[in-house]
Amino acid sequence: MNAAIRSVVRSAIFYKRSIYGIYRGYDGLIQGDMVELNAKSVNKILNLGGTILKSARSTEFRTPEGRKKAFDQCKKHGIDALVTIGGNGTFTGAHIFQEEFDIPVIGIPGTIDNDLFGSDYTIGFDTATNTVIEAVDKIRDTASSHNRLFIVEVMGRDAGFIALRTGLATGALAVILPEKNTRIEDLHQEIERGAINKKTSNIVIAAEGNTLGNSFEIAELLKQQFPHLDCKVTILGHLQRGGSPSCFDRILASRLGVAAIEGLLNDKSDKMVGLIDDELTYTSLQQAVQNKAQLDNELLRISKILSI
Ligand code: F6P
Repeated sequence: MNAAIRSVVRSAIFYKRSIYGIYRGYDGLIQGDMVELNAKSVNKILNLGGTILKSARSTEFRTPEGRKKAFDQCKKHGIDALVTIGGNGTFTGAHIFQEEFDIPVIGIPGTIDNDLFGSDYTIGFDTATNTVIEAVDKIRDTASSHNRLFIVEVMGRDAGFIALRTGLATGALAVILPEKNTRIEDLHQEIERGAINKKTSNIVIAAEGNTLGNSFEIAELLKQQFPHLDCKVTILGHLQRGGSPSCFDRILASRLGVAAIEGLLNDKSDKMVGLIDDELTYTSLQQAVQNKAQLDNELLRISKILSI
């Protein structure tokens, strides 16, 4: 997020525009909680996790009265265009706001879940997956030394991008995803096959929104089927949303930030800027929200081939 903020601020100033940073998202906009930024304000933030502008979910912005207050703040501060960084909720709000008040808006995809239509990658995803593989590699040491099976739960309430990619990158026995219907019998089969092939450690990567349910319950079911199986659960949780961004994320955020400002200067609005096949693209906010990003089935296929 910070790399994107820096990029938006610096490119606005490069093009001789004034720019405000709005704290706490739409709530901050409603309350006029904002500060004018200059090129120096975003010094030394490129390498920082989180966001210097803070983040919040706004219930008030969901109401017409809340959005009217937000627009009044824009008028008061001379704000004539918005750049919003976030995911589905952020873009839904942005789309309605620009429709109601005719104020140009460009969205930048920022979510570790990578589940936005209109961009191959969203800011934070690469960093999160690197954090996951570092953690799983460490967990693997115990799994191997003690012949254990670990269910490692990763983020992804509605999307399995983190699970799929990290499952492949860590050599997981199986990945369980929200998008694919896995039965407990499928896992049984994988474990049996692993035993035949004399695997000494097993890692199952489970997206939090997977179709089998809670990781501890899955572990219980596996123990019932394989009473001798030493099965543990590790939930990586918010560890995945912090830390210094990877090189890939810094570059992605820098490119998208410049493209957001250049898009606004070229009269683009109601669009999400994204990267498809390494090309900058602008997708309508509505399309970005209404369509679902598709998992790469080829990665799933490869993952299955390699987990024997
Ligand atoms: O950023 C999306 C996401 O990471 C989901 O995968 C996860 O379920 C959720 O955020 C957690 O959000 P919160 O911090 O509000 O619990």
